[in-house]
Amino acid sequence: MGSSSKPRLVLYGIGQFGKHVVRFAHQKGWPIVAAFNRAGAKVGQDVGELAGIGKIGVIVQDCDTADYSRIDADIGVVTSTNLLETNHDAHTRLIGAGLNVICHGTESYFPQANNPELAARLDAMAKEMGVTFTGSGIWDMSRIWSGLLVSGPTTELKSLLHRSCTDIVPQCESKEQTYPFGNTLSIEEWNARGIRDNPIAASYSSIALHVVTALGYTVRNCTTYTEPCVFEEDYPNDFMECTIPAGNCVGIRMVAEIETEEGLTARSEIEVRHFREGDVEHMFWEVEGMPGARIRVERDDSSHMSAACLFNRIPDVIAAPPGVQPVSKMGPLKSTALNF
Ligand SMILES: NC(=O)c1ccc[n+]([C@@H]2O[C@H](COP(=O)([O-])OP(=O)(O)OC[C@H]3O[C@@H](n4cnc5c(N)ncnc54)[C@H](OP(=O)(O)O)[C@@H]3O)[C@@H](O)[C@H]2O)c1
Repeated sequence: MGSSSKPRLVLYGIGQFGKHVVRFAHQKGWPIVAAFNRAGAKVGQDVGELAGIGKIGVIVQDCDTADYSRIDADIGVVTSTNLLETNHDAHTRLIGAGLNVICHGTESYFPQANNPELAARLDAMAKEMGVTFTGSGIWDMSRIWSGLLVSGPTTELKSLLHRSCTDIVPQCESKEQTYPFGNTLSIEEWNARGIRDNPIAASYSSIALHVVTALGYTVRNCTTYTEPCVFEEDYPNDFMECTIPAGNCVGIRMVAEIETEEGLTARSEIEVRHFREGDVEHMFWEVEGMPGARIRVERDDSSHMSAACLFNRIPDVIAAPPGVQPVSKMGPLKSTALNF
């Protein structure tokens, strides 16, 4: 790191989460060396001004035409998209410039489960350049480390269950965006549309695969599918501009079932659905073993938490060995509240 020992950052993707990181870095005095975004209105603007903290003298550059060869920084923070494939240009440009990379894309937490070929290429490139590639965000503490922590005290481990429940409305800009998951359909219609095999379920299986692998188990088989979530009573809803009849789809549950060579099984059920009064977004793990245990995470501000997980991981990523290094290898997240 630089002589000040404060990480010097490059930002790639100046959206909701990129702007959070700009504000955190400004608050902590971590230098922002450069900022990139795809072509559009943000290019040419001061990144501090975009983040609402006033000018900081760093102008957003077009990521496709910028020169990455002379960047003097410790880490690139990628907050553009979820997919490894779409983020590949960002990853290779930053790693190629000799920067460690921390990525907010959900496929980056455990890339070998999502896209083994790209994961292997990233690992080789990072090792060649002597830098680290890591994925982080809200799953770091609430899904990955909570699973590892609750498994930690066991002397016998039979099965793991991970459940989460997220409100679908803040995830969607319009009611139409809920339709691909069969929202409002009867179960017969839902089945007829083949939504069970939507590949989205596979992408969420990486959470349990990550935890099981980090616990030292070898995965033998992983099956994924989606199910409709339903309520037992009619559900009048302003967002959907209708009443969803009892028993019809109010969201989806993405299921993964994992078997290991050693006999441990794991199941994850990720629900994204409408919320009734009293429902609370949460993540949950249950361990069946000796001793059995449960852990539940609730959060007040998901957006702040996800960006703060990403930000607080930065020192660990800079200190980690070269290659693809998942957060499960870095110990639980540490607060930066005292870092100024
Ligand atoms: N890790 C986690 O646990 C977690 C949690 C929540 C969300 N996420 C993911 O984090 C990502 C960022 O979310 P967000 O809310 O900040 O999104 P956002 O507000 O849409 O910001 C994305 C930014 O990246 C830019 N961008 C998009 N594609 C790009 C590309 N190919 N090359 C360069 N720049 C590109 C966008 O440019 P424009 O201004 O031109 O659109 C925008 O400035 C999303 O993929 C989201 O799903 C991850």
